[in-house]
Amino acid sequence: MKKIGIINSGGDCAGLNAVISAVVKTGTPRGYEFIGFERGWEGLLDPLTYQELTLERVRGISHLGGTILRTANKGRFAGKVGSGDMSKIDPDILAMAKRNADQLGLDGLIVIGGDGTLSAATQLAKYGLKLVGVPKTIDNDLGATDKTFGFSTAVQVATDALDKIHTTATSHDRVFFVECMGRNAGWISLFAGVAGSANAILLPEFEFDLDHFLAYLRRRRELGKSSAIVVVSEGLRLGRHGQSHQAGARSSEKVLGGASENLMRTIESLAPEEFEMRHVVLGHTQRGGSPMSQDRILAKRYGVEAMLAYERGETDVMIASRAGRMITVPIVEAVDTLKLVTRDTYEYQAAKMLGTYIN
Ligand code: F6P
Repeated sequence: MKKIGIINSGGDCAGLNAVISAVVKTGTPRGYEFIGFERGWEGLLDPLTYQELTLERVRGISHLGGTILRTANKGRFAGKVGSGDMSKIDPDILAMAKRNADQLGLDGLIVIGGDGTLSAATQLAKYGLKLVGVPKTIDNDLGATDKTFGFSTAVQVATDALDKIHTTATSHDRVFFVECMGRNAGWISLFAGVAGSANAILLPEFEFDLDHFLAYLRRRRELGKSSAIVVVSEGLRLGRHGQSHQAGARSSEKVLGGASENLMRTIESLAPEEFEMRHVVLGHTQRGGSPMSQDRILAKRYGVEAMLAYERGETDVMIASRAGRMITVPIVEAVDTLKLVTRDTYEYQAAKMLGTYIN
């Protein structure tokens, strides 16, 4: 029996349990056994914390949000400092992880994570541990794969919120700023903005001209449109130096949040009492709850393919979805390219054609 460790690390997202369950259900009849490390990479470090992942343990979990293994996006194994930059993990920590893996008799790891987690994985791979990666992030910003699981659910949560905000915004003649997650990528904002018929979508990828936007709000009002829904990406770059609004910092990267309130207050200072405004930060509601069917299916396909790639002996690869097919790509390449919204993105073009204000 070959023993495989499963690790999920970084922020959670809907569909993690479906991946875990699919790996175990594919691998167990093929002669593999599994343990799942708790709270990300920390579980593989001293003191070891893990669960036996049997068929019994993974029964009935794939429709559940969150992760049965719990997760963490900080700790001794943080592999990413910000977009593009990789931090070097302490060699003693890497050696500890390898030693623990050897002591547990692990043949290798299946690692479910975003660019931070997978960057960390590439550093551990150099110590001779077999690795297959599964991409995970609601932000959908990994260049190597068309879609990450959890994204569609996040978009649905944001769309549902927009539907609700439409009615209250209209009733009160208010301008609502609705903040969506996504860090440097505006995918959730763009997709939810289009699905939820936002009047304006403000993305982090492009320059934002505040005066131009204010003129747009005034023009709307002159046309008799007294309410507006504005989707604001948390990474929107506002201000003279074009920096995103930062809520705080942790050792590995900026903590975002507050862009919508910041924008609302800036408009209030430029145009006092001209608009009645409110802001809503959707925050972690976009990561929580049960995965929608599309994400469950995608997550299960990722899990199945990860196990099959592992069995074929592929290592240091990540499973990627391309035009509906599952392929493997080297992890190193996969974490190197961020996928951002461009002005050629179909949904961006559609929003423009539909008369949405979009920066
Ligand atoms: O990368 C996923 C994500 O949800 C981002 O969209 C968001 O900025 C970040 O994680 C939030 O992280 P945390 O849960 O640590 O606040």
